[in-house]
Amino acid sequence: MSSTTAKVFLFLLLVLGAFLWVGQAITAMTGGAKKASSVVEVSPEGGESIFWGKGRCYTCHSLGGQGSAVRCPNLGQFGEKFALAIGERAAQRAKERSEETGEHYTATDYLVESLAKPDAYLVEGYKNEMAIVYAPPISLSLNDIKAVVSYLQSQGGDLDLESIEQPSEVAAKYYARISAAGAAGGGDPGAGEEVFVDNCEDCHQLQGEGGEIGPSLDGISEKGLKFITESILKPAKKITKGYETYRVVDKEGRRHVGLKTRDDAAEIDITKATGDVITIVKSDIKELEQDEVSSVMPEDLTEAMTVKDFQDVQAYLMMQKSGEADQ
Ligand code: HEC
Ligand code: HEC
Repeated sequence: MSSTTAKVFLFLLLVLGAFLWVGQAITAMTGGAKKASSVVEVSPEGGESIFWGKGRCYTCHSLGGQGSAVRCPNLGQFGEKFALAIGERAAQRAKERSEETGEHYTATDYLVESLAKPDAYLVEGYKNEMAIVYAPPISLSLNDIKAVVSYLQSQGGDLDLESIEQPSEVAAKYYARISAAGAAGGGDPGAGEEVFVDNCEDCHQLQGEGGEIGPSLDGISEKGLKFITESILKPAKKITKGYETYRVVDKEGRRHVGLKTRDDAAEIDITKATGDVITIVKSDIKELEQDEVSSVMPEDLTEAMTVKDFQDVQAYLMMQKSGEADQ
């Protein structure tokens, strides 16, 4: 390398170095680097920042004398109506929940439940109006929820981080619900259950309830979100084994499309998407063929759904683990 080339090379290195340094300084100044690692700590301090910030809890709840919201339960100690702050109150409510459900609830379980499924227990005198804080627009992560639970515990109760990090069976089920919502783009599984009942239940069973035209969806979360998404958007892309579509034309020219649900020596049954079953005598069949490019499950289901409905039903299906009832 000639000395001129070496000088040019050194100069370029310096320019590049300066460029990288400026870039990093700007990122740091604008908080970009901080943002990338701004996961709150699971601690009362972390939870406090969620409560009075991102979690928007303060828009509905006051905490003792802090905050100005009055329409939802005060979570601090406040007058006769709220004799105990939520940390202690949770232990009392846990007893009620244990009696009601027959499952053992700890104070942590109660707090987790109040966030994961607010309608499971309604504070007397209040309606089911608590936000689903792990669904849009609030979209708290599981970690955020753990932090906020520790903050609530620290309000007059015993901070028990171990019970938050190593959840009991009750809390673990709720953690799964919150993670499923996160994994499905922040859908709300509770609302997704309604979407499912309105759009899917005629054909699909869950926990033994629903129609039997399509396969049971128990345990469907194990196939993953991508599979679930594609199954809804493009049902024919991968037709579930045993649910292939058949087209039959009989000797009078009548055509039937559906699943072949019976195939005897003398007759076949074709179950249509509507659930109607048509029996055709084999000697009357002119044509019988499998249609590999269409599914009995309609292609246009999402047209009747909002984006939110779609995310919600995805979250609901991501919760369906085998052998586990939805709570
Ligand atoms: C849109 C208003 C709203 C928001 C936002 C909201 N809540 Fe609630 N919350 C309620 C209502 C209404 C109730 C009472 C009904 C019920 O029990 O679900 C409630 C109940 C509770 C309870 C049970 C209280 C008790 O006495 O047992 C806890 C704990 C709680 N909320 C925590 C939170 C936290 C933490 C947040 C923020 C992450 C939050 N809430 C956000 C409305 C809200
Ligand atoms: C008219 C009946 C019908 C309706 C309504 C329907 N499905 Fe289906 N679905 C089927 C049939 C039949 C199959 C099997 C054929 C296939 O894979 O396309 C299926 C397959 C599936 C699968 C793949 C299951 C597996 O294990 O391979 C998923 C997931 C699914 N449906 C979800 C839904 C959801 C979510 C809705 C509502 C938004 C819905 N379905 C509505 C009939 C229906």
